[in-house]
Amino acid sequence: MPVVAVIGAQWGDEGKGRMVDMLSEKADFVVRFSGGDNAGHRVVNPHGEFRLRLTPSGIFYPRVVSVIGNGVVVNPAVLNQEVDGLNARGIDTSRLRISDRAHLIMPYHIVLEGLEEKALGSKAIGTTLKGIGPAFADKTARYGIRVGDLLDKAVFRARLVTVLEMKNKIIAGVYSQPPLSLDEIYRQYCAYADRWAPFICDTTALLAGAIEKDQNILLEGAQGVLLDPDFGTYPFGTSSSPTAAGACQGAGIAPARLSKVVGVFKAYQTRVGAGPMPTELNDEIAATLRERGKEYGTVSGRPRSCGWFDAVAARLSVRVNGFTSVAVTRLDILDTLPQLKICTGYKLAGKTVNDFPASVAVLAKCRPVYEEMPGWQKPTGDIRLFKDLPVNARKYVKRLEELIGCPASHISVGQRREQTIVRKPIF
Ligand code: IMO
Ligand code: MG
Repeated sequence: MPVVAVIGAQWGDEGKGRMVDMLSEKADFVVRFSGGDNAGHRVVNPHGEFRLRLTPSGIFYPRVVSVIGNGVVVNPAVLNQEVDGLNARGIDTSRLRISDRAHLIMPYHIVLEGLEEKALGSKAIGTTLKGIGPAFADKTARYGIRVGDLLDKAVFRARLVTVLEMKNKIIAGVYSQPPLSLDEIYRQYCAYADRWAPFICDTTALLAGAIEKDQNILLEGAQGVLLDPDFGTYPFGTSSSPTAAGACQGAGIAPARLSKVVGVFKAYQTRVGAGPMPTELNDEIAATLRERGKEYGTVSGRPRSCGWFDAVAARLSVRVNGFTSVAVTRLDILDTLPQLKICTGYKLAGKTVNDFPASVAVLAKCRPVYEEMPGWQKPTGDIRLFKDLPVNARKYVKRLEELIGCPASHISVGQRREQTIVRKPIF
């Protein structure tokens, strides 16, 4: 049963897209299962450099069927733009499939999120402002409109009339802003419907068929476990589950079918948006990580907070996902540092904290306890075997494995596909 989930194990931007692009070589299906165009998956491959937001990172392989699963929220305007961009660069997107059960991001989601974030002022979540939260809120509140609704324009219009009336009351009544036009949205979404209808299907049936034939399926995570609505730094997180459980739900694959779960960890820690990060640095080391690692938001361009690897947070990630192995990415970014630190626990009011706290107020008061290790100060980008890594780099990876209790099957030492140390293939 070769169904492998690739899960972001930190605060997002761990290199999931990069790993999925590389692993897709042996995949038949690559499935996005959560989030929406809040994701920014930077992929560098022989076709060039890409920043994918909705399209699964398997799209570059002509053999792979790329699926946008039921757990994703889809902004068709972004999909249009992204697919046009890929086509313009010679990438064939004819094997894209979109779940009829996926929810649509509507213009009022984006408008309302902007108004809500503004109203929160200094307490804002720092979202990507793509309408993700409001779209998932509507899904749960049962006010959502689904991709499959586009297939029958009368059904779509009737649904839009009901929902837009409610939304306009909030936009005009609560926020004193101009209401949105029904006809304009209807026309716009009818055009999306015409374009995407041939790609919309019951993707759960498609994947069930693939499982029956023992084909290789990769589930491509978006965001990271520390942004999960249950386990992340609530409310400073996202609105869908980036976890292994979320992968099954968002792809429509039974949990018992999952054969492997690979957690993707950056060799250090970053975060973008509001909310605490205990190992955040504000010194020249942070600047080095940010510049060497190009640590700026793929979607928003915001500089990311940078700091040392947090093993407390990582252990929670391992616990709730049951990683069968981990991919440690961007080890090469640490190449120049003379001394490294790993956070092994937190201190709070004189006591040691070993479990990642539920409360952000508590987390904000936690001070990291560090273990120090010497750096290796040698370039690693050309190394392909674990045994060829400098001894201190091997020690660093081994220590991470010990602290999180999970073996590293993959280590990336650069952004290109081949810059990967594969210790145990996943397919
Ligand atoms: P990838 O897939 C990093 C963060 C936002 C914000 C919070 C909520 O590239 O790893 P949202 O728009 O989802 O409601 O924003 O979540 N966030 C991400 N941070 N990587 C991502 O995706 C993210 N997607 C959302 O910055 O703090
Ligand atoms: Mg990203």
